[in-house]
Amino acid sequence: MTAETPERARRLSGRVVAATHNPGKLREIRELLAPHGVEAVGAAELDLAEPEETGRTFRDNAAIKAEAAARASGEPALADDSGLCVEALGGAPGIYSARWAGDSRDFAAAMARIERELRAAGAPRPWRAHFVSALALAWPDGRIQTFEGRVDGDLVFPPRGTAGFGYDPIFLPDGHDRTFGEMRAEEKHGVPADGSLALSHRARAFQKFARECL
Ligand code: IMP
Repeated sequence: MTAETPERARRLSGRVVAATHNPGKLREIRELLAPHGVEAVGAAELDLAEPEETGRTFRDNAAIKAEAAARASGEPALADDSGLCVEALGGAPGIYSARWAGDSRDFAAAMARIERELRAAGAPRPWRAHFVSALALAWPDGRIQTFEGRVDGDLVFPPRGTAGFGYDPIFLPDGHDRTFGEMRAEEKHGVPADGSLALSHRARAFQKFARECL
């Protein structure tokens, strides 16, 4: 249901519902779409309910959110789902990345838990991990397109840098000597105008989406 379907891709124009109640995500989606002449309206502005994320993959959860918003609004809807997968922890926290930080969004505690579990498991270094971002575009007729971006790197402790959010301070992307927490937003999330590969998982997923749908 949620495989990439470039041959059936449709182009987006005018307006799309951003299937998120998170103002930070809405801002980011707006910024990414604006240069393509597409306007994003937030799910909260349309009073749409937030569906339960019951999927087992990033793609499934992005599709659940996008489909629910498209069905409720009658307009195309875009959703994303993302997280950090630590290889020696069997891919955890993965789709539970936000949940590991608890209701108080304590990412210092979530990062400490990762370090604790890696040490307890006796995992050999380097501690490999990757961020994943899945984007889903759902159409009111039920069709859906999904796109996934990934960035690989090593985990470093103690956390470094105060930029970004979430697990950024412990993630050292391959080929770089600064963590995401030590990078400017543009360096991490920017979508290069010359078509070269973006750095972050989210920007990479967006590049695929833009190629097919914008
Ligand atoms: P969701 O996509 O809103 O379900 O949550 C994704 C969670 O994954 C965030 O709360 C962060 O904990 C983590 N995450 C996703 N992308 C990033 C990133 O670029 N940097 C740091 N943490 C991230």
